[in-house]
Order: sequence, then structure tokens, then C-alpha cells
Amino acid sequence: MVVPRPVRAESSDGSPFVLSPAARISVAGPGADGVARLLRAELAADCDRVLAIVDEPPAYGDIIVVIAPGEGPHADGSDSDEGYTLEISAESVRIGAATGAGAFWGVQTLRQLIPAACDGNPLTIEPVRIHDHPRFAYRGAMLDVARHFFTPAEVKRFIDAIVLLKVNHLHLHLTDDQGWRIQIESWPDLTRVGGSTGVDGGRGGFYTQDEFRDLVAYAAERHVTIVPEIDMPGHTNAALASYPGLNADGVAPAPYTGTEVGFSTLQTGDALTERFVRDVIRELADLTPGRLLHLGGDECLSTPPADFVAFVEDAARAVTAAGKTPVGWHEMGRAAGLPAGTVGQYWDFTTPRGHAAEHALAFVRGGGSLIMSPSDAAYLDIVYEEGDELGQDWTGSPTTLRRSFEWDPARVVPGVGDAHILGVEAPLWTETVTSIEDVEVMVFPRLAAVAEIGWSTAPADTEPVEAARDFADFAERVAELSEHWDAAGTRYRRVPEVGWPEKVG
Ligand code: ACM
Repeated sequence: MVVPRPVRAESSDGSPFVLSPAARISVAGPGADGVARLLRAELAADCDRVLAIVDEPPAYGDIIVVIAPGEGPHADGSDSDEGYTLEISAESVRIGAATGAGAFWGVQTLRQLIPAACDGNPLTIEPVRIHDHPRFAYRGAMLDVARHFFTPAEVKRFIDAIVLLKVNHLHLHLTDDQGWRIQIESWPDLTRVGGSTGVDGGRGGFYTQDEFRDLVAYAAERHVTIVPEIDMPGHTNAALASYPGLNADGVAPAPYTGTEVGFSTLQTGDALTERFVRDVIRELADLTPGRLLHLGGDECLSTPPADFVAFVEDAARAVTAAGKTPVGWHEMGRAAGLPAGTVGQYWDFTTPRGHAAEHALAFVRGGGSLIMSPSDAAYLDIVYEEGDELGQDWTGSPTTLRRSFEWDPARVVPGVGDAHILGVEAPLWTETVTSIEDVEVMVFPRLAAVAEIGWSTAPADTEPVEAARDFADFAERVAELSEHWDAAGTRYRRVPEVGWPEKVG
């Protein structure tokens, strides 16, 4: 069965669907053709079958994609935007949805129900009826391309891998002390100087605006929204090294290739810095069709507290003026004057420490919502096991697959329930991660856990939260999913908690 677990799946005892030589993909409704083309590409890769796509009523044995009001999962017609129905019988495979996104997620379920490799056998799928829709609108993964740079082709490969789990947002951490990765035409030295380095002298690099637009379009075709982040006022050594005038003493610091945090800051109340912030936000907003623009705001240990508040309020207003909704790490909740609706991203522990809960609640009080990324469960840079070479251990204990699964976003910050939660996100920081293969090993299978938490129905209220989640059932479904990762060449950690099947080939 499928990851994330569908809301409702009823198997029936009819005959299976068998893909005949005459089978086609019959499409109806706006967006169905695009979804069908992506499905066709998957079938061609997995089963060596290239199906015709026809804008005609279906015949016996066809795969059908229908997008129309009322085709979603809700009997009363109140179709959730991303919901879908999937019916598999001897007669047909039929995906129905009210939106292209819903149909696309239906295709991802179908992919998981199809054998990962057909090996010359006729493709056979057991009969089932699925009604499915997400718990949260935002299911995210974050890739830190600042500590180590990943090329556009690598980011596309990453997008291909996350959509199988119905992850619909990719947060790109585009700037940090060690690198500036997005071309800003009005400040060219950001990439010329700031883009040339990475942690430990890593390869450096950046996205031109054309490359970034192409990435955004590639993601959008797959119903993924890119959320760009410019981290400020801290985590800004790459910018400060590029423009001496942004520094209080007018002297540019050397590029930084270490992994300390908290030592850099932009100035508050400085005219050149204000112009810089506005120019960067304006150009980035122009490149971003999505609603959200992330301003960072974390770990500003060198910014005087009053300056921090004034800085982030001003920057967030610039985001609003550019037509976007600001997002900030939860520390930004220290500022009382953020624009209404600003979204917070919570990254403290599943049991909040210090002022983290209070800062997170400030976003809710301001009419915004929260993205939940508790670092002791959802951070993918943390080691799987003590002693791992790859990964970091600053949360104090490893993040096993079980740990990444046994929590719930509505049980982290007291007073914050589903209505205040935009969704969940699993960030990958890349201080120790230098290749896309290592990215995948850190991300999979743990992203499957966070994706299921974001999509599948909330668990029962049982205490403790561990008891509310059925890890054994999840692990069995992850084992099946691994055959699809193997077929696609996606790397993953074969954690000891899962009874992995033998690898084929
Ligand atoms: C963070 O991990 N500094 C957001």
C-alpha cells in the first residue's frame, strides 16, 4: 500500500486491471493532459510502454484522468483542492479530481500501486477504490543550497523524488554565511563574490535568474511551489563579503567556509542596507509566482535585540509591498509589528524550550499560521545513528525513522492546533552533505514520515503521541516504497527498523 497512507482505501474482490496492448490514457478537463503526460513518462520508464493520450471518451481497458468540479473525493462536492479519487477495476483505472494538483497526486498513488519494474510481464493492478485528500495544504522539504551548492539538474532530480510522497513545497535556503546562490541583477557581486564559495571550500555556484525561473516552472508542472529564502539579518557573511558598504566599518570580511553560526549581521537603519534589502526582495518576488517569500531571521546572535525587531518588521513590510506573504523562522515572532498574516516556521523541539512556543504563538495571534519543523524529529541533517559520518548531532540524539514518524504537529506548541497550522516541513541543512546522492540518503526514508504526517488523517488523541502512530504499519509501506526508489535510482538509508526487500539488479 501507499505512503502517505490514503484517507480511505477499499479493496474489492473483482478481477485486477491488466494493461492491454490497446490501452490509452483518456483525458478530460483542464490540466488533465499535463498530468497524463507525466504519467505516460513514468509508465515508459518503469514498464517500457508508451501510451497514447487521447482527448476522447474512454474505452474498456483505458487509464482515465478526469478533472472537473465534483470529481474530487468529497461526496458533497466540496472538493478539497488537492484531493482525488482513484478507482481500479478490470474495466479501467480512473483518476478523478477537481484540480490538476489533485489528479497529479492521484497519479503518485497509482505509481506506488504499480510494480516498480514490469520486467516484461503484463502490468497488473489489484482492484481498489481510494478517496484521498491532504490534512494540511503545505507539505514541504527544504534544501540548503547555500552551505553546499546543488545544480539545477540536481534540484530537478530532487523534485522528481519528493513528488512521489505528495510533497508540494520546496523551500530553497538560497543564502547563508557560506554562499549566495541567486543572481540579483542590481547587486551583481552577491553571486560573483558571495556565490564563489561553500563550506570547506566546496564548489560554489549560483542560479542565474533564467535558471531559477526554469526551476520554478519545472516544479510548477509537478504541482510543487518553490519557497525562496533569503536569510537575514544574520547568516549574511556572503553578502557582507560581497559589498564592503554593507558593513558598519566599510570593510568586507573574508568569505567564510566554516560551519559556525550567529556571527554575521546586516545593519539596521542604514540607508544602503535598506536599499539592498528592498532590491533583493523586489527581484526575488518578481521571480516567484508562489505566495510565500522566506526572510529567515534565525540565530541572529550578533544583532542587537531592538535592531533585530526593527529590521525584520521593515523587511517583512517590504515583502508585503512586493505582493508576497512573508515567512520567518520562529525567532521572528519576537517582533510585535510584523504584517498581519506573516507565516512562522517553528524549528525548536517537539517539546518547546525557552521562548520558542511564545514566539511561534505570536504568528498565530497576528493572523498568520505555522509551518512545523521540530528539529528533533523533522530535521534531516541530524544523524540516523550515533557515530554516523554523514550528518550533525546538535539536537542531542539521533533522528531514527521512528523518531521522525512518532510526533504530531498539533501536539507541539500548546494552543496551536490544525486550524493554525499551514503544514509541515522537513529541512535538510547541508554543512556535511556535499553530493546529491548524500542528500538523498539523508532525506529518504525520513521524508516519507514527515510527508505522511502532513498528508494523512490526524491520529487519535491517544497519549502519548507515540501510541497514536502505527510505526509497524508505516515501516511495511516504506519497505514497499523502496522498490520504487530502487527503480528510480533514488538513494535511501536502509535503516534497521524496516524489513527491506532484497534489492533487485
Ligand atoms: C535553523 O535551523 N537555524 C532554522
